[in-house]
Amino acid sequence: MSQLFTPVRIGRHTLPNRLVMAPMTRSRADDAGVPDDLVSLYYAQRASAGLLITEGVFPSAMGKGYVRTPGIETDAQIAAWEKVTAAVHAAGGRIFMQLMHCGRISHPSLLPDGAQPVAPSAIRPAGQTWTGSGLQDFVTPRELRIDEIAAVIDEYRMATRRALEAGFDGVELHAASGYLPEQFLSSGSNLRQDQYGGSATNRARFVLDVLAAMVAEAGGDRVGIKISPEMNFNSIEDASPRETYTGLVDRLRDFNLAYLHVALFGATTDYHALLRPRFNGAYLIGGGLGQASAEAALSDGRADATVFGSAFLANPDLPERFRRGAPLNTPDKNTFYSPGAEGYTDYPQLGATNAI
Ligand SMILES: Cc1cc2nc3c(=O)[nH]c(=O)nc-3n(C[C@H](O)[C@H](O)[C@H](O)COP(=O)(O)O)c2cc1C
Repeated sequence: MSQLFTPVRIGRHTLPNRLVMAPMTRSRADDAGVPDDLVSLYYAQRASAGLLITEGVFPSAMGKGYVRTPGIETDAQIAAWEKVTAAVHAAGGRIFMQLMHCGRISHPSLLPDGAQPVAPSAIRPAGQTWTGSGLQDFVTPRELRIDEIAAVIDEYRMATRRALEAGFDGVELHAASGYLPEQFLSSGSNLRQDQYGGSATNRARFVLDVLAAMVAEAGGDRVGIKISPEMNFNSIEDASPRETYTGLVDRLRDFNLAYLHVALFGATTDYHALLRPRFNGAYLIGGGLGQASAEAALSDGRADATVFGSAFLANPDLPERFRRGAPLNTPDKNTFYSPGAEGYTDYPQLGATNAI
């Protein structure tokens, strides 16, 4: 029997199915980090997901890392997100906001007054990033002072408060993909000698402090976290990822979080086997899933819910297509991050051409 279409409890919420839409940056905000009306339509079209997770949203302007990404700091940003949550709720959905601080995976051209990106340590990531004027090398970030770390943690607290004010059903901490939280977690990007660096326990402290701040605002049952051990993305390196991630997940129990979202991309260790027994909330898996592999993970107990990225991007009615065994639209990579409706709100639904 299909497990995908059975309800599941995730923290405070009961989801009608176990298909979760992955957080996906789509770069449809303006230069002030304000999402436009198309964003409401995009998420509302996908409201049949058990749960929607937004694209990464910066808690403060220093957390921005890509052109046209949205924030949750200014009144205009909050007002725009209110429209998004209202549209999703009107369509019967539930939506969490993903909080994403990019840290060193940014560029002065994206930051206030051309500021230098910040990070746990002044180590330049290898590679290049898209800026307003094309591809540019990453720069060497500035090491955060300890008082600045406290301020960044507070930014996550305020962002959580504002997300709830804007009507979100919860918040997810983006601690995956080589952004600021993973820069703290990983030995290759964190050479600090204070309580935020060195041992695995110290490297996990930033993530745990941020979660404590988010939980203080929202309650653990409306907070999730995403991790991606050994993803090997954005120049992230860790000498002992098993120790790092088991140590981190062991400490999550105290927060009674809604969920742990683990996205795996070719890791050599079976982190699901390693991490799931250590965690006390719902366990979400993602990364390259299809209908059959998702069903298998649910029926053999490896996961409580399954997360789909590009398939949901291209198929607003993904649950219905799975239910009917209907063919899927193919995601168009050329429009993942381009402005406008094309490749965003115009993927056809079954039996319709576009609108919801
Ligand atoms: C266009 C695009 C943008 C993404 N942006 C984010 C993001 O903002 N935050 C995040 O945690 N993951 C992001 N991801 C990764 C997805 O959340 C997901 O982990 C990944 O796509 C694997 O799932 P899939 O194989 O089902 O696509 C993005 C993926 C895609 C395709």
